[in-house]
Amino acid sequence: MTDRGVAIVTGGGSGIGLAIAQALLQDGWKLVVADLSMDALQAARASLDHAGAGQLRLVQMDVADEASVVKGLEACRDDFADVRGLVNSAGIGRDVAFYDTSVELFRRMLDINLVGTFIVGREAARRMKALGGGAIVNITSVSGLRGNVGRAAYGASKGGVATLTQVMAAELAPDNIRVNAIAPGPVETPLVKAMHSEADRATWLSHVPQRRYAAPSEIAGAAGFLLDPALSSFVTGQILAVDGGFSAAGILPEFP
Ligand SMILES: NC(=O)c1ccc[n+]([C@@H]2O[C@H](COP(=O)([O-])OP(=O)(O)OC[C@H]3O[C@@H](n4cnc5c(N)ncnc54)[C@H](O)[C@@H]3O)[C@@H](O)[C@H]2O)c1
Repeated sequence: MTDRGVAIVTGGGSGIGLAIAQALLQDGWKLVVADLSMDALQAARASLDHAGAGQLRLVQMDVADEASVVKGLEACRDDFADVRGLVNSAGIGRDVAFYDTSVELFRRMLDINLVGTFIVGREAARRMKALGGGAIVNITSVSGLRGNVGRAAYGASKGGVATLTQVMAAELAPDNIRVNAIAPGPVETPLVKAMHSEADRATWLSHVPQRRYAAPSEIAGAAGFLLDPALSSFVTGQILAVDGGFSAAGILPEFP
């Protein structure tokens, strides 16, 4: 199997990040799973037990804390090597009406989803530059592309991630670092199970042409493609919606 070097997946202890970690291990990456939650990291270790000896490390990291990110990436270099691949999947979500959104919630959402993506992206890119190149995939959301009701804080944070992705792609291209984003539609993960009521689910299904939620593995395939220079060497600055057609659709027939 090709040795692709080291990749780090933030938020890799759960949901989309965990599915991406599984796929990257199978693709031959050495992998660092970074997460704030020790419980999630322990659960991830159990579900990634197919990893070969020396192929997997777990790091507790708060993406919104610069010192924690630097420490985590240093541990990664000491244990393995510097990173050539990064997936920024750590994030939080809340559905709150605009009028009810507190400044505290708005700031917290930006801090983890947007500032966290920036901090890990900058620190990883510095290391990739020294290695001669790499690839970064940020996980934004269709709520960062459209004005989904109840997503003032979440949508603003994810819209910021989309623009940050474009700026990073333009600025890091001379260093042979590609930067793309994936904008998932609804995906069956612990985050969504906690956030979506039955009524929310019905609303989503009525707006998704494929009439279903994605499995986390369906997002992982896109991340593997965007990290792999053999498949996507001329792709940078793109926001790839993996959303069952949500962002492309206009009116749809009534949901049965
Ligand atoms: N599930 C969906 O439908 C959906 C849709 C669009 C976008 N997304 C995005 O995909 C990403 C993953 O979401 P998910 O559904 O897999 O959620 P999840 O809750 O299953 O996983 C998120 C992980 O991020 C970790 N995390 C949270 N704050 C952190 C921090 N400060 N530092 C490090 N780790 C932290 C959590 O501990 C958790 O393990 C998020 O960025 C989310 O916004 C999800």
